[in-house]
Amino acid sequence: MYKVIFVCLGNICRSPTAEGVFRAQVERAGLSGQIEIDSAGTASWHIGKSPDTRAQAAAAARGYDLSSLRGRQVAVVDFSRFDFVLAMDEDNQANLLAICPSEHRHKVRLFLSFSEQWTGQAVPDPYYGGAEGFDQVLDMVEDASRGLLNTIRAEISRKA
Ligand code: 4NP
Repeated sequence: MYKVIFVCLGNICRSPTAEGVFRAQVERAGLSGQIEIDSAGTASWHIGKSPDTRAQAAAAARGYDLSSLRGRQVAVVDFSRFDFVLAMDEDNQANLLAICPSEHRHKVRLFLSFSEQWTGQAVPDPYYGGAEGFDQVLDMVEDASRGLLNTIRAEISRKA
């Protein structure tokens, strides 16, 4: 079992989008039984909340249903529970590393390190901007999800 958690600030825009997109790709690849997926925020403001309506609308326009997701805050136990702890931006990554036990630090990476087009960049926070920001998030997340899936798929066949 490979376990992936996507992390942003609020867990209502970027990381639930990543959770929904990656889950859809994993299902399409027939790997749902081998990859577990979750998301969380570094902040506590939106615990229990549904994803932002703008994130849900942008995702729905591409066929992803985020409506059942609920916000939660990342916890120290997540570093042992998950194999990949994927931050949306450098602030999220720094906040994660600040609470990450030393033996798990290698798991904390920028999600876009798996992207072809946006390696080395961050997924910009769309919360205070317009609808186009949410489409940009989807473009980046779809690309990085493909790279992440290829990485895990290669691991699975290497171990088979
Ligand atoms: P997210 O976006 O980190 O992608 O979920 C944000 C959501 C809420 C806030 C900031 C960013 N906020 O300030 O409440």
